[in-house]
Amino acid sequence: MRLLLINGPNLNNIGIREPEIYGNIGFSDYFDNLKQEFSGHSLDYFHSHSESAIAGKLHESQSDFDGVVLNAGAYSHTSVLLRDAVAAVSVPVVMVHISNVYSREKFRNQNIIAPVCKGIITGFGVDSYRLAILSLIR
Ligand code: DQA
Repeated sequence: MRLLLINGPNLNNIGIREPEIYGNIGFSDYFDNLKQEFSGHSLDYFHSHSESAIAGKLHESQSDFDGVVLNAGAYSHTSVLLRDAVAAVSVPVVMVHISNVYSREKFRNQNIIAPVCKGIITGFGVDSYRLAILSLIR
């Protein structure tokens, strides 16, 4: 399968950012591990702080990928634009969060995008991405 992992705002610096919440491993090292583990599949990575760039990538992904793993970061709680972008594409999108957003601040309990995703995986550290990939390739 051709899979695309999308990270939204502030997710380029995990490993450094609030390590007690997001862990100590940088995403590029983790992504290398994923590529090795899922070497029978093709994995691509896209990061942007910009809502519109993520929406554009989601639209493109329809023709280029069989599944998308999306961590929209803070946009998960606020972005009607990204919700509409996910709803508009036919490719299955699995939402992930590194932290358990339901055990944190109340504003993180609202997830605008999750209802239009295939599913949501939250709270397993960076392993949330791995679990999302497994859900797509099975
Ligand atoms: C996050 C959770 C969001 O609430 C937060 O804004 C992030 C990261 C996570 O992966 O746990 O940037 O999406």
